[in-house]
This record gives sequence, structure tokens and C-alpha cells, in this order.
Amino acid sequence: MIDTTINYLKDYVGQEVRLSGWLYNKRSSGKIRFLLVRDGTGLVQCIMAKGEVPDATFELSDSLTQESSLKVTGTVRVEPRSPGGFELGLTNIEIVQIAEPYPITKKEHGVDFLHDLRHLWLRSSRQYAIMKIRNEVIWAIREFFYNRGFVLIDSPILTAAIGEESSSLFETEYFKMGKAYLAQTGQLYIEAACMSLRNVFCFGPTFRAEKSLTRRHLTEFWMVEGEMAYCDAEGSMKIQEEMVSYAAQAILKKCRPELEKLERDITKLETILPPFPRVDYGDAVKILQEHGSSITWGTDLGAEDETILSNMHDRPVFITNYPKRAKAFYMKENPANTETVLCADLLASEGYGEIIGGSQREDNYDKLLARIREEKLPEAAYGWYLDLRKYGSVPHSGFGLGIERTVTWLAGIHHIREAIPFPRMITRLYP
Ligand code: 4AD
Ligand code: MG
Repeated sequence: MIDTTINYLKDYVGQEVRLSGWLYNKRSSGKIRFLLVRDGTGLVQCIMAKGEVPDATFELSDSLTQESSLKVTGTVRVEPRSPGGFELGLTNIEIVQIAEPYPITKKEHGVDFLHDLRHLWLRSSRQYAIMKIRNEVIWAIREFFYNRGFVLIDSPILTAAIGEESSSLFETEYFKMGKAYLAQTGQLYIEAACMSLRNVFCFGPTFRAEKSLTRRHLTEFWMVEGEMAYCDAEGSMKIQEEMVSYAAQAILKKCRPELEKLERDITKLETILPPFPRVDYGDAVKILQEHGSSITWGTDLGAEDETILSNMHDRPVFITNYPKRAKAFYMKENPANTETVLCADLLASEGYGEIIGGSQREDNYDKLLARIREEKLPEAAYGWYLDLRKYGSVPHSGFGLGIERTVTWLAGIHHIREAIPFPRMITRLYP
């Protein structure tokens, strides 16, 4: 007996194989039974006709409920109309477990209901497709960094220094040492590491107690961050645009069935190629005001502002050199206009908004210390970070890309909560 999985059926046409999986769906038509079986690698239609299999086997199919676990044996046939292009002419069924009545059915369910059942909902073909795309995006990014000699540096999750902003910190008591915070970013730590290994990245969960309940915000999300010594803001943008297009090309190549399942407009992915346009923040504000936005120079872009700007291009767009007061303390002052910093946010196309925040870092000791004081950050926690500006300080730059926002955009789905296996939001901690 050949035990195999659905993704390998093409190698066994005309042979008898056994698959192990779950019943996704079934229907009958007269003396014929159709079982749609999934096994984690794909879906296959299994067929049997009364009289061609033992009666006991035929009757078993009637007792099978949705999501029952089972093993099916049969002959592999080419069948273009079947999902995956093959079908199984059944000769035997072994039941592993008859499932209790399954709560997720073909009928429409509410979003909250499905999220309460996230542990089961993950089995649905749409969620399956999104998880496969997420996986490929992550692998592509890791591969991109690996191919370029970037070294993975795992940054800590428990930190004493505030990475981004004090308003969205998760805190915990840390023994006798006061408060610890869950990492909002690994950046400060990989800045230290890039002075040893030059080009580095970190990839891990990050935490923000975001009060905002939008389709772009999670309280726990995965961020991949690159940090490069002897690299300026423009050099960093080049790496970012190549990385993002590498990920887009990877899913175009490897996730066709999943993109089809999600009815993703492929042509929108095909244009994600470097170079991406760069728009100066000051110019962006003028453009936005002409389009009726109430933005004024000095503030961060709102979600609608991002949508207006991204709809003007067929690929992601960098917005560069924001006002200093709208951005984090560590960004390097722009020598050409000291009210601004050398930074860039990358806005995804099709109105999906910011997916990357990046900047050249302030490498001057005095200027960085002044910014830490201005922002009233606890100076003592940044001693080590300031040290990096004392011992061989060099120009360096980096960026952080939000994985879930990127997956939401590339998969073309509406809400970020479907782009992570178990979303964490201010209103959701279960399952
Ligand atoms: O722009 P942010 O806050 O930048 C940083 O954290 C820098 N330290 C990165 C760096 O330079 N190394 O966050 C980076 C990205 C955003 O562009 C967005 O894609 C994602 O992280 N992000 C979120 N994703 C989901 N939910 C949230 N609440 C997010 N906050 C940020
Ligand atoms: Mg940002």
C-alpha cells in the first residue's frame, strides 16, 4: 500500500494509494457518492459507485460527518474538473473518528462567531490559503536576507528601554528591578549588533497596546527589521523595495492556487517591482490638501491620507523626510532641513497603507541625548544605546516591516485579523 498525500497524487496516476485526512464535504447523486477530502496539502474528490465497492464500505460514507478524520484508499485518475486536477476512485474507507456536528457550515457566519472558533476556522479553504501565503512571505523575506549575507540577531522580548512610544506599552513587574516592557521593536538591539556584523535582521513578535480598533492594528504582530552599518536612508530604501518585490514575486510563483482562491487581482502584484516612487513629506502634504485632506504640515498621515497617496501609484510609495516632531526619537536629523528627519514610510499600493517604517539613525551622541531628554525618556535605560554613539559611531539605517499588514495587502484581504493564526486585539484574547 502506498501512503501518500494529495500534493503528490500526480506521481501516482493509475496506481492505488491511501490518503489520510478529513472530510471537507460530501454529496451524493443516485448510486454515486462524492467525498471531498482535505489532508493539509490539498483537496481531492473521491468517488465510489454502489456495486463497485463492498456494501459495507459504501454505507460507511453515509455515516461520515463534516470534518470526520479518515483514511481513503483508491486509484488515482486525472480529472481536470476536480480541485487539484486529480480524483480518487475509492476502494476502501477507514474511519479514524466520526466528528461531532461541526459548528462551521456552508451557511454565512458572523465574523465574531468565526473568530471565537478560530481554532476550527483555520481549516477552511480561505484561511488555509491565507496561512500558506503568510508562510511564503516569511520564507521569501528570510531567504532574501540570507542570500544577501544578513545575519539573524534575535532581539529580546522583555526590555527596559521603550522602543517606540510610551503610550502603547505592555508592562509587567520584573522581580525587584521595576518595570519591564514587552518589545515594541527589536531595533535598538540590532543597532548594537550591526556594529559587529554589519548587516543584520531580527524577526519576531512585537507588542503594542494600541487603543485603536482598526483593520490595520493588532496588539501582537510580527515584525521583520533590517539594520545596516555604513548605510544611509536611500541605501536602506533600495533594500526595502527589493525585499518587498522579492516577497511579491515569490507568492506569484508559489501561491497561484491560493491567490485564485482569494480572487486576488494578480496584475496588481505583477507591478510590484523596483524602483518604488519617493515622495517628500512636504510635497505629500500639498498633494493631500489639494485632494481635500485636512492635514497640516507637522502631523503624521492619517489612514485616509495614506489611501489617497497610495491610489496615485501602481506600486508601493515611499513618503520621505517627515517632521521630527511626528516621529520617534532615534531618527537622524535631516541636515538639509533640521525640522525634518531622514526617514521613510513605505505605503503599500491599493490603499493598504503603511507597511514599513524606516530611517537613518541619529549617530551623533549629543543630538541623540538631547532627543531622549526632549521626549522625557528614562535616560538610564538608554546608557548602552548611547554608548553605540561613543565607540566608533557610523552612519547606519534600518527599517521594520509588519508581516501581517504585508500579508493582508499581498493576499488582497480586508482585515489584518485574518493574516495571523491567532489574532490579538484589544477586544480579543481567545482562543
Ligand atoms: O513604524 P513602526 O512603529 O517602526 C518601528 O517599530 C521601527 N522601530 C522599525 C525600524 O526602523 N526597525 O512599525 C513598523 C511596522 C509598521 O510599518 C507596520 O507595518 C507594523 O510595523 N505595525 C503594526 N502592524 C500591526 N499592528 C500594529 N499595531 C502595528 N504597529 C506597527
Ligand atoms: Mg510607523
